[in-house]
Amino acid sequence: MPAKLIDGKAIAEQVLSKVKAVTAKLQKKPTLAVVLVGDNNASELYVRKKQEACEKVGINSKLVSSCGTVSEEDILKQIEELNNDSAVNGILVQLPLPKQVDRNKVLEAISPAKDVDGFTAENLGKLALGIEEFVSCTASGIVKLIESTGTNLEGKNVCVVNHSIVVGRPLVQLLLNRNATVSVCHKFTKNLSEFTKNADVVVTAAGVPNLIKGDMIKQGAIVIDAGIIRDDKKLVGDIDFDSVKEIASHITPVPGGVGPMTVACLIENTLKAAKLQGD
Ligand code: GUN
Repeated sequence: MPAKLIDGKAIAEQVLSKVKAVTAKLQKKPTLAVVLVGDNNASELYVRKKQEACEKVGINSKLVSSCGTVSEEDILKQIEELNNDSAVNGILVQLPLPKQVDRNKVLEAISPAKDVDGFTAENLGKLALGIEEFVSCTASGIVKLIESTGTNLEGKNVCVVNHSIVVGRPLVQLLLNRNATVSVCHKFTKNLSEFTKNADVVVTAAGVPNLIKGDMIKQGAIVIDAGIIRDDKKLVGDIDFDSVKEIASHITPVPGGVGPMTVACLIENTLKAAKLQGD
């Protein structure tokens, strides 16, 4: 029987509606500042989607953009200003950053209380301690999608094909916090299918079209595709959808799976930041 589709768009809409209802009762609208550097088309598109979602739920968004040749010092100054601006509740620096800018230095400059992406050492450290305060939006969106199937992650074998700070590393911590058994794969992994075949849940964010095929998946597994690749102007993921859907129990589409959940979790984190700041 073909897999059931996990409708990320619909689940994201539910999250956004809840945020909208809470935000409507606040005296002061929360504000998200988005730092965008350079003219990467994909980043511009993601940022637009984040701003549209803010507007939809009654959150202010403030775009701070600079050209791709901006200095690290100038970006650090922008962040310092946003940290000190009491009107700003959440700060997001859209990644990737240009070569001349040290990503970790920039992320570490964000005040942990405004770090709605959960990429500062403090928030990543808290996550590793089991404290889920501000967690990567893609990682928390993925866990929500898995749990939307009614699956309890405790004791499940989960294979994560990604080891970045945006997806793989925070996701591993979220999964360990739920007592899953986790294997982490990446481009240096030998014999990927040895790991994916053993997994009850496969999450992939490799950015390689058709990387995961039906014969690499255990019968009845849940398969989450967080890969986003522009292929002939259409968006595709890492999964060979036609072969995987015949084997998996549940599968996410691209687009309409993980992408909308990332945006919804960001909006949720912005509201959380505003509340924790007493706004
Ligand atoms: N670039 C790709 N995904 C993300 C994300 O979730 N957050 C940020 N800040 N940049 C990204």
